[in-house]
Amino acid sequence: MYTNHSPLKFPKNFLWGGATAANQVEGAWNVDGKGMTIEDCLPYREVGVADLTKQFAFSSKDLEEALNAGPEANYPKRRGIDFYHYYKEDIKMFAEMGYKVFRMSICWSRIFTDPEDEQPNEAGIAFYLDMFKECKKYGIEPLVTLSHYDVPLALVQKYRGWYGREAVELFVKYARVCFERFGSYVKYWLTFNEVDAMLRHPVTSGGLIEDQFNDVPFEQAMYQAMHHQMIASAKAVQIGHELCPDSLIGCMMTKLCFYPFTCKPEDNLATQQRMRTLYRYVDIQVFGEYPIYLKKEISNKGYTVHFEEGDAEELKKGTVDFVSFSYYMTSCWAASTEGLEMSPGNTVNGVKNPYLPSSEWGWQTDASGLRYSLVELYDRYRKPLFIVENGLGAKDKVSEDGKVHDPYREEYLKEHVCAMSDAINEDGVDLMGYTWWGCIDLVSESTRQLSKRYGFIYVDEDDYGNGTFKRIKKDSFNYYKQVIESNGENID
Ligand code: BG6
Repeated sequence: MYTNHSPLKFPKNFLWGGATAANQVEGAWNVDGKGMTIEDCLPYREVGVADLTKQFAFSSKDLEEALNAGPEANYPKRRGIDFYHYYKEDIKMFAEMGYKVFRMSICWSRIFTDPEDEQPNEAGIAFYLDMFKECKKYGIEPLVTLSHYDVPLALVQKYRGWYGREAVELFVKYARVCFERFGSYVKYWLTFNEVDAMLRHPVTSGGLIEDQFNDVPFEQAMYQAMHHQMIASAKAVQIGHELCPDSLIGCMMTKLCFYPFTCKPEDNLATQQRMRTLYRYVDIQVFGEYPIYLKKEISNKGYTVHFEEGDAEELKKGTVDFVSFSYYMTSCWAASTEGLEMSPGNTVNGVKNPYLPSSEWGWQTDASGLRYSLVELYDRYRKPLFIVENGLGAKDKVSEDGKVHDPYREEYLKEHVCAMSDAINEDGVDLMGYTWWGCIDLVSESTRQLSKRYGFIYVDEDDYGNGTFKRIKKDSFNYYKQVIESNGENID
């Protein structure tokens, strides 16, 4: 249980809010000129909460099945929570909670039905424009992710996703349209969500389907695809700065955190090595070049990453203004994990920490780890930080009184607010804001369950798409409202 060490205090302009991603909320997968994305092809699988390998497995056969699936098939991302039609109602509720910022993502395939189209899809542009206007009406700043996992299917089919160098210029074209058309409404931007994720789940992050890579080792293909995202991000940052000089453009990483399981030197070393893999690509986005340990990692495996002429300069010129990250849990690591109990986490497994509680999905919640992470990131990057995802997935129930009582969510939030406050006031971390992940229930990324609920707002829908989509404010809705109203000072 984390309690604050010094009085709770947040900067006056601290950006409190909530976060979502297009592919997990919008639904409306085939309307108004939207092209398909890889996310529309991910089926619901009854494989248990901890089995990440099976959840993320995806073959050309799965793709084929998805393309031929009838309306009875369960592809949860296709329906999301129908935010596409409910966004006005939902943003109104975010405003009622007092949000200063709303993190959302633009679906590339709404802006370009096919990334190779010459002209953007005006219906898609109109949708986001209206959403931004709606936010502005309530004084909410949009925080926009340009790419949150929904790789356009056409890119997968034509170029094997981000493995194809073509993806870079196509993304740049899309980013340019976003800056041009939305720049007057949007100040805060992120290029790629969890930019380190491709090496853990290459299908959703990069559109790379393993069985399509017989000509090149799959891991090498992933490093190459990562390189393309690095170049695309660096170019997008430059265009954004040029077209929208007041904008702030950040990177976004999965802030995992591993503690050594014991104080044995070899466990410490193994943990340090594992922790460093988290920073490989953020180091590039912040410092503008590949860190030496990443170069070694690639060459020691016998791989090469192909740089086109000018790539190194692009990386140098396209560094980010701030570092944002997701944070949910921690776990431990050891030189040998044989015989040790493991625990699942955000797309990783770690050694189970005997001192931490676990969520219903086995994630070990740990507010101290948030402070630890803030300190670590600020010491490393010396850039303003932004927590753009943090939250608790739980099995909420509508009680007989028609309400949703979720004290566990309030408890989680409270502890993390304390940890942030201490990081700011005791450790001197420059923290721009905090957006709670899944501020309204949404489709889980890893399990595709709606029943893994994060929201302050309940959505009447189950894992199979049954329900009315009606929204219900949970108890935590008023709790977060109180936290924001008091600028983080009233958490009781
Ligand atoms: C982050 C992703 O990794 O974790 C989100 O950016 C995701 O898209 C979130 O939803 C929580 O993970 P999950 O698997 O519980 O949805």
